[in-house]
Amino acid sequence: MTDGARVLDPSLRNRIMSADEAAALILSGTNVGMSGFTGAGYPKEIPLALARHIVAAHERGEAFKIGVWTGASTAPELDGALAKVDGVEMRLPYQSDPTCRQRINAGEMDYLDIHLSHVGQFVWSGFLGQLDVAVIEVAAVLDGGRLIPSSSVGNNKTWLDQADKIILEVNHRQSLALEGMHDIYYGTRLPPHRQPIPLTHPRDRIGIPYLTCDPNKIIAIVETNKADRNTTFTPPDENSQLIAGHVIEFLQHEVKKGRLPNTLLPLQSGVGNVANAVFMGLKDSPFENLTAYTEVLQDGMLDLLADGKLTFASATALSLSHEALARFEAGIEEFRSKIVLRPQEISNHPEIIRRLGIIAMNGLIEADIYGNVNSTHVMGSSIMNGIGGSGDFARNAYLSFFMSPSVAKGGTISCIVPMVSHVDHTEHDVQVIVTEQGLADLRGLAPRQRARLIIEKCAHPHFRPALEEYYQRALKEAPGRHTPHIMDEALSWHARYLRHGSM
Ligand code: COA
Repeated sequence: MTDGARVLDPSLRNRIMSADEAAALILSGTNVGMSGFTGAGYPKEIPLALARHIVAAHERGEAFKIGVWTGASTAPELDGALAKVDGVEMRLPYQSDPTCRQRINAGEMDYLDIHLSHVGQFVWSGFLGQLDVAVIEVAAVLDGGRLIPSSSVGNNKTWLDQADKIILEVNHRQSLALEGMHDIYYGTRLPPHRQPIPLTHPRDRIGIPYLTCDPNKIIAIVETNKADRNTTFTPPDENSQLIAGHVIEFLQHEVKKGRLPNTLLPLQSGVGNVANAVFMGLKDSPFENLTAYTEVLQDGMLDLLADGKLTFASATALSLSHEALARFEAGIEEFRSKIVLRPQEISNHPEIIRRLGIIAMNGLIEADIYGNVNSTHVMGSSIMNGIGGSGDFARNAYLSFFMSPSVAKGGTISCIVPMVSHVDHTEHDVQVIVTEQGLADLRGLAPRQRARLIIEKCAHPHFRPALEEYYQRALKEAPGRHTPHIMDEALSWHARYLRHGSM
């Protein structure tokens, strides 16, 4: 395995070393840009080795913390391992790891939760400080500093450009047949030098199939042979199927009305089981020749590509279960003509999302009766995951859905509340809310019209009367107001849950 066969530039072979030797080159206090997006393409050995170094430093009585920047969420071997040893000072821009979450909510780790499309420009502009080291998983190292990316691109282009030093993990488990599936665009600039990005269809290729870097910055190469996280999706439950059904019925209605073509518009979907269920539901829908312009390609989308229902998918990462990965690898020659993986600054670029007219579908934690959406915080204070790309897509999409079961935690929490306890997507960016109960099309509606519809269509029957009662009293207490609320009560549902364990 560690034969250097995938390091095709002979002048770099003398930089091959063990993960422990490479991790020793990362110093406390540095900012480290790691590859990884939704459990794909993250370094598998160096973060674990780094965690061992951090434990050793703590045993010597030395403090050791680094800044960890990635594309999006990673895996237990990265986020979990470093959070466990309390080795992270600042994490950005997205995480979904339970230990990380616990550290952040305990005040032991700082977390910068930012739009994924903003990360590159924040770094290029220097807003986030210096990037010291890039740790990037690749499928192979070619000559002249060219790298075959692995299963995600994320922010790798930015990390390789901006870091002082580069450490590569060459993962022999990643298929070499990935070569040619990526499209790395090197034309992004800071204002005032920006030019239009020449992408007008999800299948357009506007860059080159390789990441490039200055070979002189490569200080270590570590060879690995480990699979991505490859989380298995649970088969869609009844709620996910009902939500998917409402979305598909609504899309059919939009086609009938002439507001969408039968091919729909390029689809974006968030991560998770509900999003996956929507794609599985599209399999039996009447739509044809669909396309996707999204962040993450999950199992449901892969199956649609194999069926021919989906003709092309543009993403920044593959996030497949073990079973779907096997199907992907078996058909990779064909999939290479149907999938392109791009840097996240392009997959999530507002200019392109607006131009293509994306149909965006993302999850929510709670929505309020006026259509504001919280997708990041539990009970106002505790982070769940982060905003990820949902803001990039929701604000700029042609049609923007937010989806969720109507209740959480065994029915003790209503996901439709009088006022959200944290706002990620304002009423201005939320067009359609869907729960298993039904779908509320909020386009063109004023706040009070929205409130009636959301309560009627989306709230769970157990909570609907109380929401209706709150709304009627708000109308009386604030007659004629644009967005009636009872300020003493608006967040009382959350307070009640915190006090009594039920809303
Ligand atoms: N209050 C408290 N907890 C809630 C809740 C609420 N109103 N609604 C959901 N939850 C909990 C669930 O109980 C579940 O907890 P568990 O993991 O302990 O079982 C968890 O949140 C996830 O909820 P689930 O219903 O399984 O939905 P999901 O996996 O689809 O996740 C989000 C929903 C909102 C957390 C997820 O979509 C997310 O992180 N979104 C933001 C980022 C994003 O949209 N990324 C994609 C952009 S391209």
